[in-house]
Amino acid sequence: MVPVRHSNKRMQKSFESHSLTDTVEIGETIAAQLTVPACIYLEGGMGAGKTTLIKSILAGLGYTGQVTSPTYNLIHEYPLADKTVYHMDLYRLEDPEELAYLAIEDLWQDDSLFLIEWPERGAGWLPKPTAKVHIRPHSNQNADSRLVTFELL
Ligand SMILES: Nc1ncnc2c1ncn2[C@@H]1O[C@H](COP(=O)(O)OP(=O)(O)OP(=O)(O)O)[C@@H](O)[C@H]1O
Ligand SMILES: [Mg+2]
Repeated sequence: MVPVRHSNKRMQKSFESHSLTDTVEIGETIAAQLTVPACIYLEGGMGAGKTTLIKSILAGLGYTGQVTSPTYNLIHEYPLADKTVYHMDLYRLEDPEELAYLAIEDLWQDDSLFLIEWPERGAGWLPKPTAKVHIRPHSNQNADSRLVTFELL
């Protein structure tokens, strides 16, 4: 894991990942810097590594249980000692208004950490992001290589 850029002004950090292990380390690094409440939008195409990174963030926060993708349920909740993590994957959302049934505003508390995949599909029905993570393939030579950008807003 190699931090390649660090700009204080924009509070943005980029990390190069060359393997799954690197991404796990990046997730743990991001976890160590998080304070709640936080709403993080994770952007990147299918298979970019958003869920992988979220699993690593949860591991970094001390969660030891199983983490599965909430593709069908839209949201999974992970209660930790000092915060509650909500992992959302909105890929299958057909209409952002469906989020009204999840009463997300009730979940948005002082100790909440939202980690949201495909946030653009819930536009207008989500808390504003406090940070964004962008993850994308980074090399034609190495299929496992990714560039991960973490931006505090
Ligand atoms: N450096 C890497 N970082 C993250 N994932 C990697 C890396 N190299 C290979 N992979 C693989 O890429 C895949 C990423 O899948 P993941 O489910 O995390 O993507 P996603 O962005 O959540 O996709 P979706 O939009 O479909 O939810 C996994 O199969 C993982 O093993
Ligand atoms: Mg995913």
